[in-house]
Amino acid sequence: MLRGARLLVTGGAGYIGSHAVRVLCDLGADVVVLDSLYTGHRPAVDGRARLIVGDVRDPAAVTEAMVGADAVLHFAALALVGESVREPERYVDVNVHGTRCLAQEAEAAGVKAFVLSSTAATYGEDVPSPITEDQPQRPCNPYGESKAAAEAVLAAAAFPATFLRYFNAAGAMPDGSLGEDHTPETHLIPLCIQAATGQRDQLTVFGADWDTPDGTCVRDYVHVLDLVDAHVLALERMLAGGDGAAFNLGSGVGRSVRQVLDAVGSEVGPVPSVDGARRPGDPPMLVASAERARRELGWSPTRDLAAIVRDAWAWHRSHPAGYAG
Ligand SMILES: NC(=O)c1ccc[n+]([C@@H]2O[C@H](COP(=O)([O-])OP(=O)(O)OC[C@H]3O[C@@H](n4cnc5c(N)ncnc54)[C@H](O)[C@@H]3O)[C@@H](O)[C@H]2O)c1
Repeated sequence: MLRGARLLVTGGAGYIGSHAVRVLCDLGADVVVLDSLYTGHRPAVDGRARLIVGDVRDPAAVTEAMVGADAVLHFAALALVGESVREPERYVDVNVHGTRCLAQEAEAAGVKAFVLSSTAATYGEDVPSPITEDQPQRPCNPYGESKAAAEAVLAAAAFPATFLRYFNAAGAMPDGSLGEDHTPETHLIPLCIQAATGQRDQLTVFGADWDTPDGTCVRDYVHVLDLVDAHVLALERMLAGGDGAAFNLGSGVGRSVRQVLDAVGSEVGPVPSVDGARRPGDPPMLVASAERARRELGWSPTRDLAAIVRDAWAWHRSHPAGYAG
């Protein structure tokens, strides 16, 4: 159904967006990427897509990128929790105002579907797992607040919009051609690989005394290609006349920090680590109920933690210095 569809992908030079662009091009879509390259990488953009280097807050760039668009996939954002606490106004500007700019242009262009990269961080810290979409959204940091506000902007728009609330995105293209290259890197699996390969001294485990089975925090890791599959299903549903909705995207299985260290240890080699203090605001457990996505989108993630680590390692092994290497 996406063959020949004109899709605008913002943030298509970033980690998750670049995987989406590759898959959408494989499906025969006509893809335009709008990315400022603020954290993204030009070589990550599939050669079949047209890259416009520009900002989602720049009406001229957005107007150019939106010409003829059937649908928008909006990955572009600032996405570092700690940075958002220090610089909340930037998060409002890029993540909320940027989404508003896109929505206005999308309405003017008559797009038929819009997918927002949202996050589990919109639920806050006190929510019991497994988390369903009906849980109240009480974000506990400016990043989560900005994504909840972006959802609200789109909920009021004239076109159907789907909010995909990712849990912990991880993994890479299995052939090692695309992967995660963030500076600073804050995600657990690349940090473990860097520690296992000597690129950093050790991994600090933030709290080993939580009320969890092994005392470390539990999260829900979902393969980046499983995330992309959900985008395809959400787009197809809306382009066929279906509604927008909010969906949690997680595996539904919680993995502790210790279990991730062990998985990387088996695939890559021992991960030197030290137990550190808890981080304020870190919930001990965040696991998705992905039941709604399964029921309404027909989505079921197929890549387990072993596959995630294997694919992340394929990327790091072939690109130890990221896209610059
Ligand atoms: N990585 C995760 O685990 C995770 C979890 C939940 C939600 N998300 C969301 O998924 C999306 C993608 O995350 P990612 O990990 O791929 O991040 P990323 O930083 O790798 O990609 C973001 C992309 O957006 C671009 N960008 C940033 N500001 C821009 C602007 N003003 N105008 C145009 N382009 C801009 C960057 O250059 C980059 O290419 C984000 O919206 C993020 O909030 C990610």
